[in-house]
Amino acid sequence: MDKNNIGYAVLGLGVGMGHVRGTMDLRGGRLVAVCDLCEDRLAKAVDACKDSKSKDVRTYTNFTKMLNDPDVDAVSIATPSGMHAYHAIMAMNAGKHVLIEKPIDVSVARAEEIVRVWKMMGVKASCVFQCRRWPCITEVKRVLDEGKLGEVFSGLYRINWLRTDEYYAQPIASGEAWRGTWQWDGGGSLMNQGVHTTDLMQWLMGGVESVTSAAKIFNHKIETEDFTSSIVRFKSGAIGNLVSTTCNGGKTTTDLQFFGTKGSVCIENTKITSWVVPGEDEAEMIAKYADGGAAVTKDAAAAQGHAFHVQDLIDAIREDRKPYIQPDEALNALKVVLAVYKSAREGREVRIDEIK
Ligand SMILES: NC(=O)c1ccc[n+]([C@@H]2O[C@H](COP(=O)([O-])OP(=O)(O)OC[C@H]3O[C@@H](n4cnc5c(N)ncnc54)[C@H](O)[C@@H]3O)[C@@H](O)[C@H]2O)c1
Repeated sequence: MDKNNIGYAVLGLGVGMGHVRGTMDLRGGRLVAVCDLCEDRLAKAVDACKDSKSKDVRTYTNFTKMLNDPDVDAVSIATPSGMHAYHAIMAMNAGKHVLIEKPIDVSVARAEEIVRVWKMMGVKASCVFQCRRWPCITEVKRVLDEGKLGEVFSGLYRINWLRTDEYYAQPIASGEAWRGTWQWDGGGSLMNQGVHTTDLMQWLMGGVESVTSAAKIFNHKIETEDFTSSIVRFKSGAIGNLVSTTCNGGKTTTDLQFFGTKGSVCIENTKITSWVVPGEDEAEMIAKYADGGAAVTKDAAAAQGHAFHVQDLIDAIREDRKPYIQPDEALNALKVVLAVYKSAREGREVRIDEIK
């Protein structure tokens, strides 16, 4: 492997196209291969690369063949969620470094197998949770770490999103619809969309102890859920609410609210809507993040999106350091989501350490 020109590949070209675009300005590497069962998607990826340093990108419909390509050093795994462990483990067993889309998988046993193989093979493995990079989230993390809100006793973590019937019915090339199925999506609004918010919540609040949840299918023909609502007890002693839906016909928002004995902060999508923090100017903070923080990072899109994660994995390989989010850490959000489903099914409070 040439550490100054690492060969990158992407498996799965739905959101995987974000990973492809994320390689366009890659430092220390280039995109050498893409793989999908769908020829149209392969053609679109080739087209996206035509004016870049990756214009000679090779296409594969067979993942094993792509893994046998000697130019491939690292792979993004962006297949349906229930396939992540299978594909990530194949790649790591072939000696490749991996970047795995969220959620790490839909099964804790399989996600733990990812962790085992990652440690055994000594490769770099990283997982996508790009919302941690929102500039406003960096500010929330700062005030929480500095204890500026006093004792954070409560919070609200809520996605009010909409997904159509067509979205859930969209098949993969093999002909199956995978979203909203237990086997391949592992859930619905919380496992697929809300897992980002779940990860932010558990990361910012310092870990979840237990959940008491309800889940329901309100408005889609799916087998999992399109609404969940949970009372969350945190390791810190705080008690908050986690809510997810893909039924909301109104304004689409992601709301994150943190309430402490000395102050509170509220985020809507990538913007600050309220910032009551001792010694800090609320109007200034709201104005600073009014555009999602582009002015702060200079390149907010790259900093927040998949480009960040791809570059981080390349840098981690080159510098022989840990990538931003390793598989053992990505397991935390998966366990919380699975605890919500178990609690809703069994009608009782479920502790995270029950989730195996
Ligand atoms: N980070 C984010 O914001 C984000 C956004 C959307 C999706 N995702 C995650 O990305 C993953 C994919 O979601 P999506 O919406 O892109 O799905 P998708 O169905 O649009 O794309 C998945 C692709 O994988 C391909 N594929 C499946 N099995 C394959 C195989 N064996 N070999 C080669 N290709 C194969 C399919 O043909 C399809 O093109 C999911 O885990 C999802 O949770 C993450």
